Amino acid sequence: MAIIAPSLLSANFLQLQKDCEMLDRSQADWFHLDVMDGRFVPNISFGPMVVEFIRNTTKKCCDVHLMIEEPEKYAEAFKKAGADNLTVHYEACRHLHRNIQQIKQLGMKAGVAINPHTPVDVLKDILKDIDLVCVMSVNPGFGGQSFIPHTIHKIKQLKEMINEQLLNVQIEIDGGVTLDNARTIIDAGADILVAGNTVFKSANPTATIDALKSI
Ligand code: DX5
Ligand code: ZN
Repeated sequence: MAIIAPSLLSANFLQLQKDCEMLDRSQADWFHLDVMDGRFVPNISFGPMVVEFIRNTTKKCCDVHLMIEEPEKYAEAFKKAGADNLTVHYEACRHLHRNIQQIKQLGMKAGVAINPHTPVDVLKDILKDIDLVCVMSVNPGFGGQSFIPHTIHKIKQLKEMINEQLLNVQIEIDGGVTLDNARTIIDAGADILVAGNTVFKSANPTATIDALKSI
C-alpha cells in the first residue's frame, strides 16, 4: 500500500487550519509541504514559519520539499520548524553530499528530488546516503500540471538501482498524480504518492484520499 502525501500547496490558505485538520483526521500518511523561493522555481510559496504552524496541527510526518537555491542556509530553520523529512533538489546542490550530511546531522530524513530532465543515473553514488528520492513528474513550481509519462520509465530504472544496491530508499512521485494514473505509478515501483490538485480540488478530499489509499 502506497504512502499518500497530500500537498498543501493546493489547499485554501485562508483556511489552512481546517485543511490541516481534515488531513490529520484522514487516511493521509504524510503532509507534503512545498517550499519555493522564486529563484530555483518561478513561484514563491511559504517558508519555515508556515511549516511550524502546520507542524502544530498534526503528529503525522511533515515531508518538506525544498525547491530553493542554497538549501544549506535554511536546513536548520526547517528542523526547528518541525520538519521530519527534508528534500533538496539535485539541480540546486553543488555539494549534494554535504547537504545530505547536514540534514542527517540535524536529525531529519534526507531526500533528493530530481527534475523531469535529470536522469536517475546521477543518483548512483548518493543513493546509499539518502532516505528517499522524489522523482518530479512535472516541472516544479506549480500544482495542477499534467503527469509527464516518461516518469514511469524513470521509476522503474530507479527501483532497479535501489534493489541492485540492496538499499531501503523510498521512491516518491510528485506532480500530476491522479486516481487514474496512481495504479501504474505504484506498479512501476513508487512508495509515496504526492497529490495536490487531485485531493484539494475534489468535491470530497477525505474520500479522494481514501480512494488513493485503496489503490
Ligand atoms: C510542484 C510541487 C508539487 C505539487 C503537486 O512543484 O512540488 O508537490 O504541489 O501538485 P499536483 O498534485 O497538483 O501536481
Ligand atoms: Zn512537492
